Amino acid sequence: MKVLVVGGGGREHAMIHALAKSPKIDKLFCAPGNGGIAAQAECVDIKATDVDAMVAFAKDHAIDYVVVAPDDPLALGMVDALEAAGIPAFGPRKNAAIIEASKSFSKDLMKKYNIPTAKYEIFTEMDKALDYIHTEGAPIVVKADGLALGKGVVVAQTMEEAEDAIRSMMGDKKFGDAGARVVIEECMSGPEVSVLCFVDGEHLSPMLSSQDHKRAYNDDKGPNTGGMGAFAPSPKYTPEISQICMDTIFRPTVDAMIAEGRPFKGCLYFGLMLTSNGPKVVEYNSRFGDPETQPVLSLLKTDLLDIMMACTNGTLDQLKVEWSDGAACCIVMASGGYPMDYKKGYEIHGLDSIGDDIFVYHAGTKLENDKYLTNGGRVLGITATAETLEHAIGKAYDAVKGISFQDAHYRTDIGRK
Ligand code: AMP
Ligand code: GLY
Repeated sequence: MKVLVVGGGGREHAMIHALAKSPKIDKLFCAPGNGGIAAQAECVDIKATDVDAMVAFAKDHAIDYVVVAPDDPLALGMVDALEAAGIPAFGPRKNAAIIEASKSFSKDLMKKYNIPTAKYEIFTEMDKALDYIHTEGAPIVVKADGLALGKGVVVAQTMEEAEDAIRSMMGDKKFGDAGARVVIEECMSGPEVSVLCFVDGEHLSPMLSSQDHKRAYNDDKGPNTGGMGAFAPSPKYTPEISQICMDTIFRPTVDAMIAEGRPFKGCLYFGLMLTSNGPKVVEYNSRFGDPETQPVLSLLKTDLLDIMMACTNGTLDQLKVEWSDGAACCIVMASGGYPMDYKKGYEIHGLDSIGDDIFVYHAGTKLENDKYLTNGGRVLGITATAETLEHAIGKAYDAVKGISFQDAHYRTDIGRK
């Protein structure tokens, strides 16, 4: 089979690495891909959001199956467009991708179907939003409704911070239309766990749990990023909590999407907070998480293509998805300055000396004259598996020490919490 993966970050590299093991695949393509992905797939210079060009490429090259990884092409209806052209694809259709693309949709869904989440109100008028935070008080959470690259959420500790967030989203239009509508939420507390689930419209199969590290610096300090590292599974996600999540969150969400006429197929990502009142939903994503995918898929034993196609065909209940024992840890090496301004084009050293049992997933890299250069904010995700989480963390950091590029920045406390 010929398979095309849409996207070009560390998550897509981890998917390609897993898909490359499938005996059914003769040829892998990735659009746009990156420097590291180029070693395992033919990279195609098409933007992940260019729906028409992607469909045309898939038709011209007789692609048998497409995996749409990032949120924006899903929200734009890339899966619908591929299906209309007769090409099956992994990922939700546009009417189901809305579960991530609109926070007001997802909050209303949870309210309607009694799925536990933070109390909230939705506003389209700035004055009313400002009045509301004054009645509720701080801490309080302000979220832009639409997709904002994971940066449209402000957990405001003070009234002043909350006011600033509302003014910049609704007044100054910091996130454009994504912030025309804001969701204001009660501030929850507790450990955060991500659970990605394979879903085929009706049946679901949760993957190993994982924990992301969103802040740029150690001890969860500094600005929010796309994620500076992740590990799997989470020791905090016990079998008991997993059962509660299945009964009160996962199954009800999949059923709610069916009841709304928006059956979800693909990877449904549950961002959970384990509060003193039980697990609650922080967010839904309509896709695999980055960097959670890197450790999670490193522990997958079953053929990823088989699972993905079962999701597309509605036959997930007929497949047993198996995971390795042990743990995996991914450390993100980022460009100095990320998530704010940073420079690109620095040579990456040390990649040749990495052992076979370490996966170096490339995120923002390019290959030029046989050299790997930095080409994005998050550059590499150094991922190790081991029998215990402690060992996986140690192995990953040992490998990080052997890799360097100018102004490289990484957290030294991934998995330590
Ligand atoms: P989101 O993009 O909705 O996942 O939000 C980004 C991050 O903000 C989450 O991972 C949490 O750490 C934090 N957050 C979001 N909503 C809440 C909430 N209601 N209470 C506390 N923290 C939150
Ligand atoms: N790591 C969080 C996300 O992918 O949204």
